[in-house]
Amino acid sequence: MKVGVFDSGIGGLTVVKSLLDNKLFKEIIYFGDTARVPYGIKDKNTIIRYAIEAVEFFKNFELDLIIVACNTVSAHALLEMREASTCPVIGVVEAGILATANALKDKNSNILILGTKATINSKAYEVGLNAEGFQNLQAKATGLFVPLVEEGIYSGEILEATFKHYFGALKKPDALILGCTHFPLITDSLKGYFTEDTIFIHSGDAIVEQLEKDFDFKEKFEITKLEFFASENPESLKSIAKEWLNL
Ligand code: DGL
Repeated sequence: MKVGVFDSGIGGLTVVKSLLDNKLFKEIIYFGDTARVPYGIKDKNTIIRYAIEAVEFFKNFELDLIIVACNTVSAHALLEMREASTCPVIGVVEAGILATANALKDKNSNILILGTKATINSKAYEVGLNAEGFQNLQAKATGLFVPLVEEGIYSGEILEATFKHYFGALKKPDALILGCTHFPLITDSLKGYFTEDTIFIHSGDAIVEQLEKDFDFKEKFEITKLEFFASENPESLKSIAKEWLNL
């Protein structure tokens, strides 16, 4: 299969990493809308408009599937993308809800959902988790993590201060949903702040779990052809991809 992976910027590369680690696809076309990132502070109509433009961009490539590697877009524009697309479109929020339900036996588990303002305001995770029988939820918009990760800050004093600012009043959760594809880069620091046995739900691993459930993958691809596109400064996206994906 030839797939398109879409994010507002570089965060979706953490999903590409999971796809590559699991050798699922022969060809991946990545598009990051770097000229207009962050999406997480924008309103629903704007997110939908940008997401449909991404679908139009992908029409240049005869894709078999589009993976929305952005929680913000998945929470607000998945239906509209499906309507605009000629191939199937799947998103990380649905996958994250399923992965959480599979990972947690106890329906009383306390789950902390982190994401951008737009993702948290959509309540997409809460609605989905409620439908799976989970009621003990906390949700927190932690948008500052996005520029910190973009700045290459994955640990240290500034991040710790941000944790205190966001999490000071929260109860330590049994599971934490990394509801933004930038956040896996700070997982080690988050593990240090919370407890080692907190279960982390990662959008990339969740989407792999969903893909393996929904599709019959007959082959493993040792080599995946990768192409990277960005709406601004593609060279910068390519060099970050090289670093994060060990290319
Ligand atoms: N990577 C995006 C997500 O998963 C967030 C970044 C942004 O605000 O555009 O929600």
